[in-house]
Amino acid sequence: MNDLILAIETSCDETAAAVVKNGREVLSNVISSQIALHTLYGGVVPEIASRKHIEKIDPVITMALQEAGVTWDDLSAVGVTYGPGLVGALLVGVAEAKAIAYARKLPLIGVHHIEGHIAANYIEHPDLEPPFLCEVISGGHTHLVIVQDYDTFEILGRTRDDAAGEAFDKVARAIGLGYPGGPKIDQAAKQGDPEAMAFPRTHIVQAGRSTLTYARGSQETGPYDFSFSGLKSAVLNYLNKCRMTGEIWKQEDVAASFQAAVVDTLVDNAMRAAEERQADKLALAGGVASNSALRAAMQRACEERGMKLYIPSPIYCTDNAAMIGVAAWHEWKKGRTSGWDLNAVPNLKLGQR
Ligand code: KG4
Ligand code: ZN
Repeated sequence: MNDLILAIETSCDETAAAVVKNGREVLSNVISSQIALHTLYGGVVPEIASRKHIEKIDPVITMALQEAGVTWDDLSAVGVTYGPGLVGALLVGVAEAKAIAYARKLPLIGVHHIEGHIAANYIEHPDLEPPFLCEVISGGHTHLVIVQDYDTFEILGRTRDDAAGEAFDKVARAIGLGYPGGPKIDQAAKQGDPEAMAFPRTHIVQAGRSTLTYARGSQETGPYDFSFSGLKSAVLNYLNKCRMTGEIWKQEDVAASFQAAVVDTLVDNAMRAAEERQADKLALAGGVASNSALRAAMQRACEERGMKLYIPSPIYCTDNAAMIGVAAWHEWKKGRTSGWDLNAVPNLKLGQR
């Protein structure tokens, strides 16, 4: 018997549903993006996101079933993102998943959004199995983790301030590229000079500690931590200086120089951890993993060290429900399902249940 999971994702500005077979095979992956709507405001407006999810969730699910060629009767379980994310947006998906699971008498599986991003790697790489090193780089999170098992993560580092994607979005706005920042900087940077401006690469140095593993929930910091707010400030200061002195700057050059600094930081942190932990497999996850310069630079760095690099196709890097279906299947196989009291948890931590 095949396991067919209907997965739902509404944590931010994409309303998404997918049908995933046996934890790896994506039968459908429907994403209704709200980007055009939020572009008017220069970023995601939570209240508008929630309302749009309510409008879209039913048609998106219907389409996911149709594209997969399955009916309600064929489903084995329902998986849904319950955190982290925007609370109002998460609640739409959670309520919908509960209603479907209750009506159809199916198991309900709450999924951690970041575990979903990591699980996106299993879709197109049947050979990938834990343990492996994974850099999770999304709009709200930047984590360097060792995926010890499908549901067990050792956190080596995380951002102390802005997430990588957040930095892309803020810098894009400052240089007039607008929302969504990541893809626009990626495009503009192709026409720019990455060495035009020397923006800083932040390395976290901690005296007396070369490695550190976080205890669950701890606020400790460590040598694989990230910090992107200094870089963002450096770009803003540069733009201010130009404004005051009348110096002309090229949007493409600032985009390329900023992107080069982020890419260097992400590659450097991952490679230091890979060397210290003797990892031979590195996976990337999250929206920023679709950045073309990062993909190329990380590929080169891994080849130099004889490491194998795994990156999902761009459509599985940014928010989607297929990745939630994969993570849900692993949760379910470990015997974990959720009760009818499942709630949205906007600041759910990685590894927390
Ligand atoms: O993983 P994701 O879709 O949503 C979150 O869970 O946050 O990531 C969205 C982030 C946004 O900050 C967006 O600007 C960034 O991923 N992003 C990119 C690219 N595509 C999306 N950043 C850099 N280059 C890209 N091509
Ligand atoms: Zn995401």
